[in-house]
Amino acid sequence: MTRVVMLAALAVSAAGAFQTPVMLRSATATRRVTVPQVLATKMVAVDPPRVRTFIKKDIKQPDPICQTGQENTMKVMQSGRMYRYNVGKAEESEVSLCEKAITDYTGHKYCVALNSCGSAIFLMLKAAGVKPGDKVLSNAFTFGAVPSAIEHAGGTAVYVESNDAYVMDTEELEVQLKANPDCKYVLISHMRGKLADMDAIKAVCDRYEAMLLEDCAHSLGVYWKGKHSGHHGKAACISSQSYKMLNSGEGGFFLTDDDYMAAAVATYAGAYEGLSVKHLTVPPLEAFKGLSNKLPNYSLRMSALAAAVIRPQVSTLDQRAEKYNERYEKLKSELSRRAKGLLTVPDVTPGVSQPVHDSIQFNLADHITPAQVDQFLAECHAHGLPVELFGAKSNARNFVNWEFAPAQDPLPKTSKMLARACDVRLPLMWDDEDFHTMADVIVESLDAALM
Ligand SMILES: Cc1ncc(COP(=O)(O)O)c(C=O)c1O
Repeated sequence: MTRVVMLAALAVSAAGAFQTPVMLRSATATRRVTVPQVLATKMVAVDPPRVRTFIKKDIKQPDPICQTGQENTMKVMQSGRMYRYNVGKAEESEVSLCEKAITDYTGHKYCVALNSCGSAIFLMLKAAGVKPGDKVLSNAFTFGAVPSAIEHAGGTAVYVESNDAYVMDTEELEVQLKANPDCKYVLISHMRGKLADMDAIKAVCDRYEAMLLEDCAHSLGVYWKGKHSGHHGKAACISSQSYKMLNSGEGGFFLTDDDYMAAAVATYAGAYEGLSVKHLTVPPLEAFKGLSNKLPNYSLRMSALAAAVIRPQVSTLDQRAEKYNERYEKLKSELSRRAKGLLTVPDVTPGVSQPVHDSIQFNLADHITPAQVDQFLAECHAHGLPVELFGAKSNARNFVNWEFAPAQDPLPKTSKMLARACDVRLPLMWDDEDFHTMADVIVESLDAALM
């Protein structure tokens, strides 16, 4: 666009003043602002240099470990007792105390700490009874670790279409259960903390006598009608990998109210020779009877170091969720206003009583061409904001990339959504104003891509 720019300023007139962009620099970003410009006597039409906003902060910045977490870890290291069972009794175990803190928060009866959420899902499927070749229905849109865990357990993944709000489509679940009457397991994954209509999902599973299992890797802190997520299924799993609500680098937890599943997962993880007595959140010894001879020990336990880091983080979950949500709502309304008609940010499912928006997703409008989508992403990347497209060729959340567990159907609804669905982290350690800068980069990149 051509604008008139000033060559020499001689007079000021409020009535005649117009706005022009100037650049302001701060430690974190370059921001564009507009100020009244002095009227010029001699004017000429030229193309002004495009003034763009840049982000300098790291979008992958994880949350630091609080002082208590650091001190707990030092104590564990000083004692040398990093193996979870190298304690006199359960109450002395960092891992057992951490499992207790998790169950106190989520309201589950039992919890087993593991080395990752992928391991937790694998063991959940094994404890649920998945045998080689058994079909397991799951979201077509989730992270590759989910079909990987199904493959690890010997199951065959069958995918259910996800909708534009990134959740499993309830009607499509019914279609798949009808088409696969031999399928007895549904593993729902609450991608990016988004919950489907969980009452409806559970009702469909019950109608087809399929066991519902939940991947809550992203939904720690998310509540459904006042109760923590992960209670519709027979069991659930959470993650403490660095980009989740708990950060221990790597880590995961299995959660259930079911005696057998809790005992089986603790045994598979490596509670051999009666070591279950060193847990605080597993069923009594009778539930373990004979299990350590029947079930293999896959050695997937959590280390005391990870647990020491995690435990103090549990009590701050709701407080952090509040901060995330406040920033998210502001960013959502700014983007919806400034990029109206170009993108939509789907609402959460009614029934979610507390979301956790530690990232934002939006769908680019249908009239934006694939080439413009690519240009938009390139513009964002070039300006310091690596917006990810779920449908990108290299994205591990794009089902076409799961060659190890391929989809049998083309999944057109999910494909359409993935091709326009963008994903951005909202790092907790950033400042409030950085999210306004983020909106600037997104809006300017859309502008540039659509020129
Ligand atoms: C939806 C989902 N489920 C499961 C996992 C596995 O978690 P972990 O990395 O702790 O194994 C991830 C990992 O990011 C995930 O995104």
